Amino acid sequence: MKILKVDSSTNGGDSVSRELTDMIVEKLKSDNPDADIVTRDLGTEPLAHLNPITTGAIRMGEDDWTDDMKAAAPAEKAILEEFLSADVVVIGAPMYNFTIPSALKSWIDRLGVPRVTFRYSENGPEGLAGGRKIIVASARGGNYGDDSPMDFQESLLETFFNFIGIDDITVIRAEGVGMPEGRKKAMASAKEQIAAL
Ligand SMILES: Cc1cc2nc3c(=O)[nH]c(=O)nc-3n(C[C@H](O)[C@H](O)[C@H](O)COP(=O)(O)O)c2cc1C
Repeated sequence: MKILKVDSSTNGGDSVSRELTDMIVEKLKSDNPDADIVTRDLGTEPLAHLNPITTGAIRMGEDDWTDDMKAAAPAEKAILEEFLSADVVVIGAPMYNFTIPSALKSWIDRLGVPRVTFRYSENGPEGLAGGRKIIVASARGGNYGDDSPMDFQESLLETFFNFIGIDDITVIRAEGVGMPEGRKKAMASAKEQIAAL
């Protein structure tokens, strides 16, 4: 089994979502001692936003590539293949201004690839990347609960991964961490959620 751990917090050592992704990976490792763990830290090593070269390298056919796109393609492909080779993907996703950090969005922009992770058929969009599990470590300063109209963070991730065919999505949530005593309470609740994985 291969586990991919993706962090995106820019909060360094004080990050709530990093504490959660570490705990989740520890739990998965204790249940699957032979698992390979691969890590990607978008908080300290962010991917650039897409530009015309990287967009072409990801989404155009090889025959239409410019020399720049050809040069960019291997690095772009490696990001997608790292994701597709994982059985479980643990994603640290803080809420930043009601959505995910821009570095996490840049990574997701590498995963939504026509004819590879989804396609449009006569029946509409069809996800092609099923067969893996996503565990989202969600950290939020305020309290939103489920289905808040202000949530463009968990809802974005669930919508995106559903779109590319992944239904097996678990959210471990620590919220209200900005409130007095909030982090302590949120971590106690998250620990129970992780134990139940
Ligand atoms: C740039 C930035 C924007 C934030 N925006 C929100 C927000 O919109 N709503 C919220 O509840 N908390 C917000 N917070 C608080 C974080 O969600 C909270 O601190 C959480 O612990 C962040 O996860 P992390 O510690 O892993 O980075 C924001 C924090 C930062 C740094």
